[in-house]
Amino acid sequence: MPKHKLERIVIAGATSGIAREVGRLLASRGARLFLVARDPAKLDAVAADLRARGAEGVHTAVADLASTTSHEQWWPEALAALGEPDGVLVAHGILGDAERARRDASHTTEILTTNFLSVAAMLAPISTWFEQRRSGVIAVIGSVAGDRGRQSNYVYGASKGGLDIFLQGLRNRLFHAGVDVVTIKPGFVDTPMTAHLPKTPLFASAESVASGIVGAMEAGRDVVYLPFIWRWILLVLKMIPEAVFKRLKT
Ligand SMILES: NC(=O)c1ccc[n+]([C@@H]2O[C@H](COP(=O)([O-])OP(=O)(O)OC[C@H]3O[C@@H](n4cnc5c(N)ncnc54)[C@H](OP(=O)(O)O)[C@@H]3O)[C@@H](O)[C@H]2O)c1
Repeated sequence: MPKHKLERIVIAGATSGIAREVGRLLASRGARLFLVARDPAKLDAVAADLRARGAEGVHTAVADLASTTSHEQWWPEALAALGEPDGVLVAHGILGDAERARRDASHTTEILTTNFLSVAAMLAPISTWFEQRRSGVIAVIGSVAGDRGRQSNYVYGASKGGLDIFLQGLRNRLFHAGVDVVTIKPGFVDTPMTAHLPKTPLFASAESVASGIVGAMEAGRDVVYLPFIWRWILLVLKMIPEAVFKRLKT
């Protein structure tokens, strides 16, 4: 018996490769969904797909999730559409251009705002609503990249590492209200975000990661590495002393 039913779910960043697959799993069980995304045409296509796959109702809102205030518009709309959501999945994010982010302050700001600040901001009213309801699940897609800073992608890594700490504190706060906060840490996933990267055996499919996300949300898990092997990879990586790590070409 799952701890959380996931019958009415809000998905921010619903057009993401991973979120679409989560939406499909929930739709096939007849869930009611409120989808938030920035591209109206993509959003309509995802909504139509989820309706065709059995969702009981699909509502949508167009929003720029790099904004730290867009939730002021769509969160009340989500509550009006779903009544009492059982949970929220936050999936939007950008990888950005790591080379550019090293030199270009505006790109650094864009990555940090989209991946971290906007999420922290939207979770202020969302977490308070769930705290008052005294049940539900909030899941956010972070990344294994947030576990250790590396020269190859430390701005993206910092945005996800910031999320990790934020969600730890939120989890600690909401535990006392019976609300679960799930930090999802995928490794490489085959989605539009990684389309430019050569595919290695470490790549997982969006379908398999989505299945792990739904299971983790149902169970109200704390932190999940997807696939699980990344937990061991990061455990080893995090054990390397900084004096050694800084010398590596990572
Ligand atoms: N793929 C991986 O290897 C991997 C690994 C670890 C973590 N993750 C994380 O998983 C999450 C989902 O990514 P994905 O792999 O599914 O990649 P994706 O398909 O590129 O999805 C990224 C999503 O974020 C949305 N987005 C970006 N900026 C936005 C903005 N300003 N306003 C609204 N939406 C915005 C994109 O919207 P558009 O559809 O309009 O572009 C897209 O739907 C992200 O948080 C990512 O960091 C991915």
